[in-house]
Amino acid sequence: MKFGGTSVATLPRWQNILELVASRRAEGARVLVVVSALTGITDALKQLCTQTATDLRLLSAQAIARRHHDLLADMQLDLPDTLATRLHDLDGLAAHGTGDLAWQAQVQAHGELMSSALGAAFLSANGLTTEWLDARECLEAVTLPNQNERTRLLSAIVDSQPDPALAAHLAARGDVFITQGFIAREGVDPDDASNKGGRTVLLGRGGSDTSASYFGAVLKALRVEIWTDVAGMFTANPRQVPGARLLRRLDYEEAQEIATTGAKVLHPRCLSPLRLPRVPLLIKDTNRPDLAGTRIGPELREEAPSIKAISTRKGITLVSMESVGMWQQVGFLADVFNQFKQHGLSVDLIGSAETNVTVSLDPTENLLDSDVLAALATDLAKVCRVKVIAPCAAVTMVGRGMRSMLHRLNPVMAEFGQHRVHMISQSSNNLNLTFVVDENVVDGMLPQLHEQLVRAGAMRTDDADLFGPTWEGIYGAETAPHDEAWWINDRAKLMQLAEQHSPRYVYHLGTIRERARALLTKLPVDRLFYAIKANSHPAILRALAEEGLGLECVSPGELARVAETVPASTPRLFTPNFAPRSDYRDALEAGVMVTLDSLHPMEHWVETFDGHDISLRIDLGRGSGHHDKVRTGGSTSKFGLPLDQLDAFVHLATARHARIVGLHAHLGSGVLEAGHWAEVYAQLASLAERIPSVEFLNIGGGLGVPSHPGEQPLDLDAVGAALAEVKQLYPRYQLWMEPGRFLVAEAGVLLAKVTQLKGKGSWRYLGVDAGMHNLIRPALYDAWHEIVNLTRFNEPATAMYQVVGPICESGDVLGSDRRLPESHEGDVVLIATTGAYGQVMSSPYNLRGPAEEIILD
Ligand code: LLP
Repeated sequence: MKFGGTSVATLPRWQNILELVASRRAEGARVLVVVSALTGITDALKQLCTQTATDLRLLSAQAIARRHHDLLADMQLDLPDTLATRLHDLDGLAAHGTGDLAWQAQVQAHGELMSSALGAAFLSANGLTTEWLDARECLEAVTLPNQNERTRLLSAIVDSQPDPALAAHLAARGDVFITQGFIAREGVDPDDASNKGGRTVLLGRGGSDTSASYFGAVLKALRVEIWTDVAGMFTANPRQVPGARLLRRLDYEEAQEIATTGAKVLHPRCLSPLRLPRVPLLIKDTNRPDLAGTRIGPELREEAPSIKAISTRKGITLVSMESVGMWQQVGFLADVFNQFKQHGLSVDLIGSAETNVTVSLDPTENLLDSDVLAALATDLAKVCRVKVIAPCAAVTMVGRGMRSMLHRLNPVMAEFGQHRVHMISQSSNNLNLTFVVDENVVDGMLPQLHEQLVRAGAMRTDDADLFGPTWEGIYGAETAPHDEAWWINDRAKLMQLAEQHSPRYVYHLGTIRERARALLTKLPVDRLFYAIKANSHPAILRALAEEGLGLECVSPGELARVAETVPASTPRLFTPNFAPRSDYRDALEAGVMVTLDSLHPMEHWVETFDGHDISLRIDLGRGSGHHDKVRTGGSTSKFGLPLDQLDAFVHLATARHARIVGLHAHLGSGVLEAGHWAEVYAQLASLAERIPSVEFLNIGGGLGVPSHPGEQPLDLDAVGAALAEVKQLYPRYQLWMEPGRFLVAEAGVLLAKVTQLKGKGSWRYLGVDAGMHNLIRPALYDAWHEIVNLTRFNEPATAMYQVVGPICESGDVLGSDRRLPESHEGDVVLIATTGAYGQVMSSPYNLRGPAEEIILD
């Protein structure tokens, strides 16, 4: 069992270790604990090594000793002899600093020597008799031909042949041992009779994990457990992809590949010692020992080929070498690679053509400063034409049998098609496929790529044996958006409503009013309209009119709904698109502010706008939003007047005696970037300066709400602050907005009941009585709506379902790969955030009829 620096730095952490070791003892296992130095101590020791003045080194040693004394005091222990000896030795080393590499190694080894001595005392004092073991007695470094004094002493490699004699010796001595990570004993150099070995050496990067593996191999352990602060390896970096899944099982090669190409949880070096003796390695979370973690072992179970992980590495440098006039010349590659060797550079990826070879250099393997690269380029220039391309990033997909999965990678290829790909490389062991792209695009790509892999069935997350819970599911529970959702408290009532009838949409008016008030207080708007297309339920229109909002409509039907629902004094807008002439005429006659968005009406409907005030929707040339289908900008979108027709429109409007009193722009729906609206506002304002009649600027809607758990909500204060800045610059224009989704989405839920369950291979389908005829968003936009089993709200989510409806379409899927409690016929299921664009987009398809709508006030 290996514990890192933070895990051994405090008393509570040691109590945790005590419990974990005791639990292994209770299972009948004998335990060897491998520890790192207390956090910060290795750095302090390195610092000590750089000090040339003896008194400064002694002061450093005292400070280091104090850290250990303090922890001893917390543990209420007296100074044990083992630790006293180490502290005394360290003092001696500080007093007689020779500065050479052997001395440095000895000084730095004290971090682990001291923490393990402290640990032995603590465990023994708390009922677990523990022997302190000097790792240098057990682990011997090998001497390799290409080593120099530095690599031999500070970056040693250990001979990890199983040593039954050592195992037997330890078995005779006790049941629980504690030893040091990171250190070993120097071996005898067969080529140098003067070197008898025996000095203290360090293992270099990944040192403590590697020590644990060496011990595991030498002792042929039952398993090696690496205790750290995450549950294991994930399908992607969870910081970038919160939906990344825990990998429950990996074989050594895959794990090594993932560790090499990005995952930081394990140093790739620590897997190779375990391969030959076939000792499994387990990664476990110290704070959550209940989680199964990742098990890395030799076994190769029969399983569908699947991509296991996608990772990115930044700081990659590509060196492209063009062999002018050396086509097919024997020895060209040898010449080129010799240069890399001369400059001490290790090459990672290789791509070759008849006249070009391109290789990548990984910064974690090489010291890539500009001097090294310049020197390399100069030397290479003697044999070829050189181009250095940097900074790049490598995106790697890892999975055994990569070549058999290519047909599933279409969407992934499409994603790369949007960027410049400098190089593609497929590893010859069939374990990875790597794309090299510009560094600045890579962060944005990863979440999409991960999602595409899941959706395309290339990453078989349906295999619950392989893929565990998501990172956000494990660690993000406190921040799940539904923690504050109204429906948590109203659960009992919702259950009742669904029992009476399903499917049912339920809308919570309190939430809608609250959202309206938030917008009115936080945004410096002069008029706020509600885009009723999002949800035109009469009770919602009434509530929002009462809150002082106007209503924005896009059809005669919506105008009629408004006319029959709210007082005539409620301000109304009409913003149709490609509507017939009569729609505009009727709206103008009813006294509604009409927005035009093309030249055609002005050109051809000669008298319609005579003497009227109108507003003009402009296409600012770009769109934004949660999905391609809701982005409204640029030539590929049918909305808005293109900027190059603005002068023509103004000219025609003047001729038709129509007054352009407002400019309008709406770039799309589901935007979560706070700065978006201020940009639109500033652009419209500068255009308005060309049209003296303009009085208001309508910057549309589009305010997004989070869908996935863990997604950050829109920062309304930031939206407001950015708008206020623009307003100060252009005080003469009124600011209007017309959001839809933001006001109603989270106020609505769709309730359904489980109809049937079905298993197909490893896929489990959960059928419910709501489908794409009620909620089209998942099918149309791949929208993600949280799905909850209300009947089993507090049960653990142990099953993985495809949640589907009753419609005769394969696309009738409300949620893919959803982790829910084991569910049964009749259970009530809630589909969240469905107050916007839910019922209003429903269809009579299959004649299943619409869901009922209920208002909670
Ligand atoms: N103003 C105009 C001119 C619009 O076209 C829209 C929405 C809005 C305001 C309100 O946008 P909101 O604040 O709701 O994002 N069915 C899609 C959304 C389509 C939005 C259409 N126009 C969905 O379910 O995501």
